[in-house]
Amino acid sequence: MEKPKVLVTRVIPEGGLALVQEACEAEVWSDELPIPRALLLEKVCGADGLLSLLTDPVDAEVMDAAGPGLKVISNYAVGYDNVDVKAATARGIPVGNTPGVLTETTADLAFALLMAAARRVVEGADYVRAGRWRTWGPKLMLGYDIHGATLGIVGMGRIGKALTRRAAGFDMRVIYYDPYCDAAKAPFVGVGLRCDLEALLAEADFVSLHVPLTADTYHLIDAAALARMKPTAILINTSRGPVVDPDALYDALLSGQIAYAALDVTDPEPLPADHKLLTLPNCLVVPHIASASWATRTRMAVMAAENLLAGLRGQRLPNCVNPEVYEPPRR
Ligand code: DGY
Repeated sequence: MEKPKVLVTRVIPEGGLALVQEACEAEVWSDELPIPRALLLEKVCGADGLLSLLTDPVDAEVMDAAGPGLKVISNYAVGYDNVDVKAATARGIPVGNTPGVLTETTADLAFALLMAAARRVVEGADYVRAGRWRTWGPKLMLGYDIHGATLGIVGMGRIGKALTRRAAGFDMRVIYYDPYCDAAKAPFVGVGLRCDLEALLAEADFVSLHVPLTADTYHLIDAAALARMKPTAILINTSRGPVVDPDALYDALLSGQIAYAALDVTDPEPLPADHKLLTLPNCLVVPHIASASWATRTRMAVMAAENLLAGLRGQRLPNCVNPEVYEPPRR
C-alpha cells in the first residue's frame, strides 16, 4: 500500500521524526531557518498531512495549495496562533497541538527569568566579563527580593498553575487574573487570590504572562497597563510576543515606569540585534526557549507525530484544537 505523503517543515527530535518517517513518505525541510512561503506553498501541494512549526503561518492559502487530500495539520507547539483554525475547520481538517508536556519546562523558564531579572544575574555576569568588577560594593548590583514578593499571574491555565507551585516554594504571594477560569471550579485558587487585571498590575511586584495570543490578548499589556504597574515591577513574558506592545514597553523601561522586563517571546520574532529594546540594560531577552529542554522537545515531537498519524488514519487526534470537525454537520 502506498504511504501517505506528508510535509514536515523542520527537523524535529528523532523520537517523533522516526515515527513519521516510518509510516509516511515524508519530505522534511532540513534548513535551520523556516521554509520560505513560496516553497511551503509548492512543497505542500498534494500532501495528506502537514507537520508545522509556530514559525510557519498555516492559512487558507496553504491549505488550498495542499489540495483536497489534506487530512491533518499537526502543529509542533502548544500555541497555535500561527494556524488559521477557522479555515481548517471550514475544510474539515483537524488541527493538533502539544499541550501538557511543556507545562513544567515552560514554568521553569518563567521562574528562571523572574529570578535572573530580580537579581540582575545576566547584567552581573556581563559586568564581570567586561572586567568592571573592582571591589565588593554596598550598592553594587542591587536588585529585588523574590521571597515575600507578590507574583501576579495573567492567565491561570496549566503553566500559570505550575508557576504558582514554584512561587509557593519561595514564599511568594500569588494573585492572578483569568477571565476564562471559573474560580468556583478551580481548587488551586487556595494558593492565589483572583483579582481583576487593573488590581493585579497595581499590586504585583512581578507580572508573568501566560495567555494564548488571540484578538483579545493582542497588546493586552499596552501603555495604559504598564502605567498601572509599580516603578519597581518586573514583567515576564513567556506567552507570545504580541501580547505586549513593544513600543510601550520600551518607553516604560526607558522612563523607569517599570523596573525590568524579561522576555522569552518578542514582537517581532526573532528580535533584530539592533532593536531598541536590546539597547536597554533593564531588558533581558532570550530566544523563545521556554520549552527547550531535551526531554520536553522530544515529548513534543512524539505528540506531534501521534497527532499527524492519527489524522492520516482518519482517527480522532489525541490532541485536537478544533474537535468540532468531528461533530456531524448541522442541518
Ligand atoms: C509553544 O509550544 O507554543 C511554545 O511557544 C514553544 O514550545
